[in-house]
Amino acid sequence: MSQHQTADITQAVLDRLADSTDPRFKEIISAVIRHAHAVVREVDLRPEEWMGAIQFLTRAGQTCDEKRQEFILLSDTLGISMLVVALDQARRSAAALADKTAKVRPTEATVQGPFYWQGAPELPLGADIGKDMPGEPAYYSGRITDTHGKPLARCCLDVWSGNGEGVYDMQMGEEAGMQLRARFYTDDAGRYHFWSIKPSYYPVPDDGPVGDMLRKMGRHPNRPGHIHMMVYRDGYVPVTTHLFASDSKYLDSDAVFGVRDSLIVPYKRHERGAAPDGRVMDKPFHSAQYDFVLAPAA
Ligand code: BEZ
Ligand code: FE
Repeated sequence: MSQHQTADITQAVLDRLADSTDPRFKEIISAVIRHAHAVVREVDLRPEEWMGAIQFLTRAGQTCDEKRQEFILLSDTLGISMLVVALDQARRSAAALADKTAKVRPTEATVQGPFYWQGAPELPLGADIGKDMPGEPAYYSGRITDTHGKPLARCCLDVWSGNGEGVYDMQMGEEAGMQLRARFYTDDAGRYHFWSIKPSYYPVPDDGPVGDMLRKMGRHPNRPGHIHMMVYRDGYVPVTTHLFASDSKYLDSDAVFGVRDSLIVPYKRHERGAAPDGRVMDKPFHSAQYDFVLAPAA
């Protein structure tokens, strides 16, 4: 077969995988070839347009460094990260999702984002990780259970967020160190509580090629206000998720498609005075309540 006939070239490229020995790689790269060729055919791609795409990807690579990962941002803003997260959770929690005796569904996962910092300090329940940070104080509490409602004691809740202006510690400069992040462990009844701030919406980095792409698409770069959580305990499927403030802007147009209805939480506003944990607040504060659910590992 001549590989110069446009009708045959897709099959010619696929045929060259005959000696590839990794079946999963072969499956994935075959699909990439078929779909990429289909795109070129569908839009009758012009050489200068393909060169524009190559220049875009080159700039994305040049924008990456130890702190900035433009390709993940590209995957996030095209909804690919969220699709991979959702499929992964469905696959890993399939048994729990099919369990007719289960009382509650596992907490939905969402994107991890670039601001997770492994090794956040382990703090006692009730600690305040938002002290001295811009933002309105918020008291977070709830329980962690399995899908049958059994409380999970000593379950880790690894928490991180930006401050009340949407700025993460990693964006505050070297000297800031870890802020607004900690690992909490549930008590014997599976309960947790801690203080932080009420998170604000903020833009994903939009000063690089992904920002240019968003503008060309007529999109804004913002994410609604959210606090990140990674919830894990041995024997259970870990979940990386967020809680979204129900009154935040951009809930219906998250730049990275991470919002799930089940993760939208009301923040109740309180006047200054006694908080649910007995702390006396000298300014108004919020409280947010959420119960997390982990699926048993298969
Ligand atoms: C974040 O929520 O931290 C985030 C997620 C994806 C891209 C940029 C930021
Ligand atoms: Fe975030």
